[in-house]
Amino acid sequence: MSVILAIESSCDETSVAICNNGKITANVIANQTIHQNYGGVIPELASRVHQQNIVPVIHQALLNAKVTKNQLDAVAFTQGPGLLGALLVGVSFAKSFALALDLPLISVNHMHAHILAHFIDDPKPSFPFLCLTVSGGHSQIVLVKSHFDMEIVGETLDDAAGEAFDKTAKILNLPYPGGPLIDKHARDGNPHAFKFGEPQIKDLNYSFSGLKTSILYFIRKMEKENPDFVAHHLNDICASVQRSIVHILLNKLKKAAKQYGIKEIAIAGGVSANSGLRFALQQMGEEFNWNIYIPAFEYCTDNAAMIAIAGHYKYLNNDFVGQDVAPLSRMEF
Ligand code: KG4
Ligand code: ZN
Repeated sequence: MSVILAIESSCDETSVAICNNGKITANVIANQTIHQNYGGVIPELASRVHQQNIVPVIHQALLNAKVTKNQLDAVAFTQGPGLLGALLVGVSFAKSFALALDLPLISVNHMHAHILAHFIDDPKPSFPFLCLTVSGGHSQIVLVKSHFDMEIVGETLDDAAGEAFDKTAKILNLPYPGGPLIDKHARDGNPHAFKFGEPQIKDLNYSFSGLKTSILYFIRKMEKENPDFVAHHLNDICASVQRSIVHILLNKLKKAAKQYGIKEIAIAGGVSANSGLRFALQQMGEEFNWNIYIPAFEYCTDNAAMIAIAGHYKYLNNDFVGQDVAPLSRMEF
C-alpha cells in the first residue's frame, strides 16, 4: 500500500496529485493565465505564481483525495526538464515537505511522466510500445521497453511541435498558448486550402522551424495583396497548418512503427490533446491494425497525476533520492 503526493511545476501549471496504490484520487491543476498577456511563458512570473499557488493546491489535493498529510508514504516531484525557477519552487517545496513529515523523496523526469500517463487508466499499453511525445518543448518518438527503460529513436532538431503551433498562433495574432486555439479554428476550416512545404529530414527526426518560416512568408505575402487575409481565412489557415504538423508527425511515427515492427502505438504531451492529431492517429491505427493509446484530455497537458503514477512505479522499485537533489532545466532522458 502506498499513498504518494506528487508535485508538478516545470512550466506554467502548478499541479498536485495523490496516487493511492496506483489509483489517482486527486489531480488539482492551477493554470497561470498571466502569461496570455505576453505571448509566451515569462519564467520569472511563472515561479512567482507557483509560489502563490503551491500551498492552496496541496491543500485542495489532500481534501479531494480525503487523506491527511500523516497518511502519506512518499513525495514525488518533477526534477526536470523545465524552467529552472519554476522547477525550483516544486523541488524546494517537496524537499521541505518530505523533511518535515519524514517521508522519502521520489524524483520524476517530466518527459517519462508524460509517457507513463498511459498507466493511469485502462487500457494500458503493453511493452514494447512506441510513444510520440509532443509538447511545448519536445517532439520525440520513444521506444518504451518498460516503465523506466525508454529510448528516444527520433526527435526534433529544432522547434517542438507545440512551438510550431504556438509560433504560428503568434503570427496569426492569437494569444498564448496558441495550440488549442488553432485546433478550435481548424474545426471549421478546410485543411487543403493552403499548402506548406514539408521538411525532408533523414531518419526518424523532425524539424519544424522551416514550416514556421514558410507560414510567416506566406502570410506576409498574402497580407500585402489583402490586409484582411488572416481575418477572412483564419479557419482555413489554421486547418491547413494543423494538417501539415499532424502529417509530419504521423509520417515519422508510421516509419518508426514499420522499422521496429511495433503495433502498440501511443501519443503523449500537450499536443496530443489536438483533435486533428487524435483523429488522424485513429485512422492510421485502423489502416495499419495498430492498438492506439490516446490519453484522456486532463492527462495530455501538464498535470501532477502523471508525476504521481511515475512516482508509484518508482516507489515499488524503492527508487528514492536524498535531500541534496536539485532541479535540472535539462535532464538526461
Ligand atoms: O505538455 P505541455 O502541457 O507542456 C510542456 O511540457 O511543454 O504542452 C504544452 C503545449 C503548448 O505548445 C500548447 O500549445 C500545446 O501543448 N497544446 C496543443 C493543444 N493543447 C495544448 N497543441 C495543439 N492542439 C491542442 N489542442
Ligand atoms: Zn509537459
